[in-house]
Amino acid sequence: MSILGDAKAAVQGAVQGAMQKAIELAPDAWIPGGKPDPLIRERHGHVGRATSRIDGPLKVKGAARFAAEFAPEGMAYAALAFSTIAKGRIAALDLDDARSAPGVIMVMTHRNAPRMAPMPRFMSAEKAAGGDDLPVMQDDHIHWNGQPIALVLAETQEQADHAAALVAVTYEAEEAVTSFAAAEARGVEPGMFQGEPLRVAIGDAEATLAASAHRTDAHYSTPRHNHNAIEPHAATVAWEDGTLRVHDATQAVAHTAWSLAQMFGIAEDAVHVTSPYVGGGFGSKTLWQHQALAAAAAKLAGRPVRLVLSREGVYRLVGGRAPTEQRVAIGANADGRFTAIIHTGSTPSTPHSAMPEPFIVATRSAYAADSFHLQVDTARMDVLANTFMRAPGEAVGTYALECAVDELAEAMAIDPIDLRERNEPDKDPTQGTPFSSRNIVAAYRMGAERFGWSERRPAGTRREGEWLVGMGCATATYPYYRMPGGAARITVSRDGRAEVAVAAHEMGMGTATTHVMVAADRLGLPADHVTMAYGDSTLPGVVLAGGSQQTASIGAAVIAAQRALFADLLKLAGNDSPLAGLSPDEVGGIDGGLAKLDEPERRESYASILARARRDTVVAEGEAPMPFELQHWSMHSYGAMFCEVRVNAVTGEVRVSRFLGAMDCGRILNPKTAASQFRGGIIMGLGLALMEETQLDDRSGRIANPSLAEYHVPVHLDVPPIEVVWTDIPDPHTPMGAHGVGEIGITGTAAAVANAVYNATGKRVRDLPITLDKLM
Ligand code: MOS
Repeated sequence: MSILGDAKAAVQGAVQGAMQKAIELAPDAWIPGGKPDPLIRERHGHVGRATSRIDGPLKVKGAARFAAEFAPEGMAYAALAFSTIAKGRIAALDLDDARSAPGVIMVMTHRNAPRMAPMPRFMSAEKAAGGDDLPVMQDDHIHWNGQPIALVLAETQEQADHAAALVAVTYEAEEAVTSFAAAEARGVEPGMFQGEPLRVAIGDAEATLAASAHRTDAHYSTPRHNHNAIEPHAATVAWEDGTLRVHDATQAVAHTAWSLAQMFGIAEDAVHVTSPYVGGGFGSKTLWQHQALAAAAAKLAGRPVRLVLSREGVYRLVGGRAPTEQRVAIGANADGRFTAIIHTGSTPSTPHSAMPEPFIVATRSAYAADSFHLQVDTARMDVLANTFMRAPGEAVGTYALECAVDELAEAMAIDPIDLRERNEPDKDPTQGTPFSSRNIVAAYRMGAERFGWSERRPAGTRREGEWLVGMGCATATYPYYRMPGGAARITVSRDGRAEVAVAAHEMGMGTATTHVMVAADRLGLPADHVTMAYGDSTLPGVVLAGGSQQTASIGAAVIAAQRALFADLLKLAGNDSPLAGLSPDEVGGIDGGLAKLDEPERRESYASILARARRDTVVAEGEAPMPFELQHWSMHSYGAMFCEVRVNAVTGEVRVSRFLGAMDCGRILNPKTAASQFRGGIIMGLGLALMEETQLDDRSGRIANPSLAEYHVPVHLDVPPIEVVWTDIPDPHTPMGAHGVGEIGITGTAAAVANAVYNATGKRVRDLPITLDKLM
């Protein structure tokens, strides 16, 4: 499951019952990806070559302008004041001190804010982008501790920040549910996603477990997490002749533009959102109240507004990962085959959240077993809406599942890799569909060899001075998605240059670089003759940088646009061309023009075709097909994660000394940026394993550590050398043969660390993060 939802669920929503079955049973050739992308076979030279990011020099020079670096004429600065109660009403507001503070232009509260519809909540419509659907400063009600209650506009940021601190509020508090335990005690309800319960039941898993020769049955818990992208959320907005102009930091330009249009009751094309550079998103850079509040303040004051959330502001306003309580029980027969997999538990949610933390998702496809019971229940809390945070569900779900597999292997005295191999499914174990491409066993072989897995000793037996040393492994897995709505435009000009335009996003992962490489190979042009336009809501496509699916989405759209382009070029080339009579499928982009694939001497350059047709450019657009492949095959990224830890026997301090990810993510398009994605995910996984934890005060529902001083993420000294290798086996059913690489790294990593800690110390820590007090 992913940001903006499970693409498969989205398709299932559109295509019900019999139709769904028909897609499953249809011949491969009828399904998108049924015929392999020709780029998988062709080796033109760009794809697969380690390539530095084309925006690198701009970033180094400070020339890449981020959302909070635009300064329209007359711009005012905004700061927010946040509620300090979890639930209730604003009884009185004293704004005199704030209004009379130096430089203050105005103070906006629910009393004077322009009327706005609630944010369209994620997945409630194709382009809905809102983290929640609560009223935005429209009434005196408080829904969570940290809700914005006033916005101060001033001539400088410092003046705005100062005045925001002077807003005085009296509340009428109501009883609120602010502890997860209390919420669970009040009763849970089935976790719903896209109108369907998060539940799988096959066979009688409890009875099968009880009758099994071997079993493990344990509870695991993971804490609340908050987002900490390097760039805090920010928007610079201006109303220009009725158009709302938004410089945003977003992973969803088209969604944000549409959603803001709904909120202000204006036409979609009256909102223009751009976001050429984003300093990390991880699921958090969607539509939250700050963009709407900045736009409202700009309307009220008649001036452009810049609103940058402080680091604390990000904690107050932007949702994070909800905590989880999970049970994983696995039964096995004498030869180690799984008889039952039970993965159940609960997570808090709010009625206004877009999704519960779906921690069972990876378990649906991980291992073969005779019976399954997978279920997420939710417990209602009065807190900020929880949201998508890198591999939502899988990051914490694979921690529990992969620790449980390690526990069973230990109990059965089987090597944990061997146990996993014995339970490798030959088709999707809960859906019955074939895997499009799954090479976990190959990834384990490759990783074990490189990591030196054969050096692993029995638990608690390797000590070097004060340090207990251990090794652990775990499987990483994250679904392959492709959201509907992809579209692209390709422009080829007479000078032999091309531009690919897609409303896509660059959050630091190398999107523009990689798609320039792909387009150059498709068109037969050198990479420096191709540019990519992106990060602009006026460009084609509804493309989300989320769910690790942006590359697939762009890839499928570019294939469609390329087909349209070749058709147009062949038409322009006409009967006087060596290409006369050929169809788009018979030609490829080779050496600056079109050539017949099996007869390359029949060719004509783009320059020649355009010159003869007296055209400067040819422009073609294409729309990606609906992602029916997601229902036809079981599609996932995989990895085998290996960790070595050193645990201090005296202090309990855990140091990760080595880490290796052996990834199976289809064809790797750009080894340099893909390696960074894998490493970044693994580093975030080390934080998940060892340090990240939001301290929510159970009494007040207030986050007590809203800063990087108190909310710990890995720093350089926490991060060991991380080696990443990959199988590089293309998936014949995806654009370019690629799978997503953005989220897979955080999955499996926490379990690999926890399993290594067990191997070092003989202690199982089933409660993240693994801090030293749990090892003393
Ligand atoms: Mo992600 S959590 O799909 O940006």
